[in-house]
Amino acid sequence: MTHDIAVIPGDGIGTEVVEHSIPAVEEAVTAAGVDVGFTHYDWGSDRYLAEGAMIPADGLDRLQEHDAIFLGAVGHPDVPDHVTLHGLRLEITKGFKQHVCKRPTYLYEGITGPLRGYSGGDIDFVVYRQNTEGEYAHIGGREYRGHDNEVAFQGAMFTREGTETIVRAAFEAATEREGALTNVTKSNAQAHGMVFWDDVVEEVGAEYPDVEVERLLVDAASMDFVRRPEEFDVIVASNLFGDILTDLGAGISGSMGLAPSSNIDPTRTYPSMFEPVHGSAFDITGEGIANPIATVLSWGLLWDHLGEEAVARELRAAVADQLADSDAPRTPDIGGESGTEAVAGDLRTRIE
Ligand code: NAI
Ligand code: MG
Repeated sequence: MTHDIAVIPGDGIGTEVVEHSIPAVEEAVTAAGVDVGFTHYDWGSDRYLAEGAMIPADGLDRLQEHDAIFLGAVGHPDVPDHVTLHGLRLEITKGFKQHVCKRPTYLYEGITGPLRGYSGGDIDFVVYRQNTEGEYAHIGGREYRGHDNEVAFQGAMFTREGTETIVRAAFEAATEREGALTNVTKSNAQAHGMVFWDDVVEEVGAEYPDVEVERLLVDAASMDFVRRPEEFDVIVASNLFGDILTDLGAGISGSMGLAPSSNIDPTRTYPSMFEPVHGSAFDITGEGIANPIATVLSWGLLWDHLGEEAVARELRAAVADQLADSDAPRTPDIGGESGTEAVAGDLRTRIE
């Protein structure tokens, strides 16, 4: 069976890490005897600047014909961030009901993170972030622009479908891992949406009596990510909190350049989308030093989702092997002096 993948490199370092990761992915695919076809779409900020839209009007129809989507990153210094994010990534996650954003955090052997006393494997948890609504619902408005009485209103929206889907996915994951789930909210202050969220966790949790549930407010959870990250297994959080916590997760496990992500429609009605956690990184765009590992690990999540675990294992093994090898090339974010191409090329060699 041929897997048909849509590839959207996007902007900035998104294009760099996607371009250089593909030969390693092809190597792993060939080694596992899997057939794959890639279709590239040059959608993103350059298209927006030229034509006024990040993706064409029939963009989702075209993507829907593929088995999965791979996204580099979006974001451009000349286009407002809310335009790039809502115009492409959120258009896809919402349009394709990708309610589940799964983001593993893992401290690899060979990586010295910023926390003292932690080594390979000591930090190993996965964040399940609600991905289609919550604080990222496009609800609100601005009135009386520029006047003294200017008003901005930003709503948050929690639906039963969106909340139950992420909570159930997190409980399922906890069942397959160590059986511990941390529910992160701010239901002391957000007394409507987040109390509803807690209620859903309790309802769904009744079906998973073997999973131990811990409740943390997001401020305390942030502190505990630094103070006791080894105790987390599966974390479930809203869109905004999950977004923030996973950058923190990337920080404590060594780099944004190591953090993978996936946007999943568990019903498989629509294609799911895979991407590194990081953005387009204006500060290093064009320098050729972006770490491609987050991207390679995101390709691993894609192959897991498509049922090709052998490909995923190859990719993860190559990354683990490279990071544990003190002579291997590394990008500057993890203490090396090599570039994207050298690191990705070395990963490819380790797969051969
Ligand atoms: P960012 O994730 O692009 O960069 C944050 C920091 O991490 C920067 O110092 C960057 O150099 C570093 N970094 C990120 N990825 C790296 C890699 N692979 N290797 C080495 N270092 C890496 O976040 P920032 O700067 O807040 O946003 C830049 C643009 O990206 C904005 O337009 C933002 O809206 C967009 N963005 C897009 C996302 C997406 O497409 N999913 C996600 C996050 C941000
Ligand atoms: Mg983010």
